[in-house]
Amino acid sequence: MSIWDLQAPLYHLQRRLWPLSVILRNETSLASRLLASRPHSDGWALDLGSGPGHSFPLLPDALARVGVDQSPAMAKRCRAHHHAMMVVADACALPFKSDLFTLISAVGLMEYLPSPEPLLTELGRMCRSQGSVLLTTSPQGLFTRLRSLTGARLTVHNLDAVIEAAQRRSLFLTGAVHTFSQQLFLLQKR
Ligand SMILES: C[S@@+](CC[C@H](N)C(=O)[O-])C[C@H]1O[C@@H](n2cnc3c(N)ncnc32)[C@H](O)[C@@H]1O
Repeated sequence: MSIWDLQAPLYHLQRRLWPLSVILRNETSLASRLLASRPHSDGWALDLGSGPGHSFPLLPDALARVGVDQSPAMAKRCRAHHHAMMVVADACALPFKSDLFTLISAVGLMEYLPSPEPLLTELGRMCRSQGSVLLTTSPQGLFTRLRSLTGARLTVHNLDAVIEAAQRRSLFLTGAVHTFSQQLFLLQKR
C-alpha cells in the first residue's frame, strides 16, 4: 500500500482547508485559461495522476475522458466522484496504444517522479499530432518545501531540462504560467 492509498480518504478534505483551497482554485483557473488557448479537437483525453479527481474536470466533457492513477484507492474515488473511466497504472509505463489522445493533462504529478524523462516519453508517444499536453511542475521555494513535509517525496526538476526533454519528444511549448505554488505548461505535439 502506497502513501497515496493511505491519504486517499482525507485528501479532498485537506484540500478544502484555507489557504490551500484558495491556492488550488487559482491554479485550476490558470490551467483552464491555458487550456482555452489550445486548438479545439475531438477524440480521447487522458488525465494522468488523477488523484481523487480535482484535475479530471479540466478535460472538456465533449472528449471521451480516461483517468490514470497508480493508487487504487485514489482511482476508486475519482471513479465515484466523476463516473470516470479509470485505469490503475504507472504513468511512466501506460497500457495505451500510441498517438491515441488529443489532450493529456498531468497536473501535480511530475514532482513525484525522480526523473521527468519516462513521463515525457509516454506523453510524446501517446499524444496525437497537433494534440495538446497540460503539464505542471513544482517550483523551488517555501511552498514546495512545506508540501514535501505532508506526504510523498517531491523533486524540483530543472525547467529548461524539462522543456528540452519535451522538445526531443516533439512536444513544443505554446504557453506557460508560473506562480509560487506551481509552474504550468501547455505543449503541442508537432
Ligand atoms: C498531488 S496528487 C494530484 C492529483 C490531481 N491531479 C490534482 O491535480 O489534484 C498526485 C497523484 O499522482 C499519483 N501518482 C504518483 N505517482 C504516479 C505514477 N508514477 N503513476 C500514476 N500516478 C501516480 C498519486 O497516486 C496521486 O493520486
